[in-house]
Order: sequence, then C-alpha cells, then structure tokens
Amino acid sequence: MKKTLFLLTFLSLGAHATPFAAGDADRGGKLFTKYECSSCHEARVGGDGSAIFTRANRTVRSADDLIVQMERCSGAIGKQLTAQEKQDLAAWLNQRYYRFK
Ligand code: HEC
Repeated sequence: MKKTLFLLTFLSLGAHATPFAAGDADRGGKLFTKYECSSCHEARVGGDGSAIFTRANRTVRSADDLIVQMERCSGAIGKQLTAQEKQDLAAWLNQRYYRFK
C-alpha cells in the first residue's frame, strides 16, 4: 500500500513537471515547418529566425504566454491552430528554447 501511494505521488509530481505533456514535440517540429513559422521571424531577426526565441528581450515568459503568442502569430496569417497543434508546437519550442518546467 505504501509503495502504491509513493508511486502515485511520484507520478502526479511528474505530470506537473512538464508543461505541454499532451504535446508531441516531434509532431510540433513538423508543424513548425508546415506552417512556415520561421518566415516572419527570419525577416525580423535574420538567420533561421530562431533568435526570436532566444533574444534577451523575448516576450514569452511562461507556458501560458507561449500559447497566447502562438495564437497571435497564427492569427496573423489567418490560420487557426487546433488545441492539439498548439500543444505539439509548444512542446517542441519548449524542448528547444524555453524549457519551462
Ligand atoms: C505573420 C508573421 C508571423 C508568422 C507567420 C509567425 N510569427 Fe511568431 N512572431 C511574429 C512576430 C512579429 C513576433 C515578435 C513579436 C514581438 O516582438 O512582440 C513573433 C514572435 C513569436 C514568439 C515569441 C518569441 C519571444 O519573444 O519569446 C513565438 C513563440 C512565436 N512567434 C511562435 C510562432 C509560431 C509557432 C508560428 C507558426 C504557427 C509563428 N510564430 C508564425 C510573427 C510571426
């Protein structure tokens, strides 16, 4: 019984440790290419556009910010991301750049 309780506590802590646990980072990376997410970012910061995620004055400060910003960006090109797509993209961006816990 004690063992089961320990395991349950451990698992629930684990779930909180990762935002976007419902997202699939590999799928997110493919969506990033599919939606040409870098196009505007390249024009703005140069290179492959990824500097937008690592610049000192980046605007995204939390997991929630990340979702909101992605909605803004996709809205700007008239695309409506599904809830799953947002989770996937966020999981990928978080793994590579943001590392929110
Ligand atoms: C229409 C042009 C455009 C497209 C397309 C676009 N973005 Fe952006 N994105 C921007 C601009 C401009 C900013 C910077 C906003 C600022 O500085 O406040 C930005 C910033 C961001 C940031 C925040 C970077 C930071 O400061 O931390 C994220 C995350 C992001 N974009 C994700 C995406 C994703 C994911 C996609 C593809 C679904 C995408 N963007 C497509 C224009 C675009």
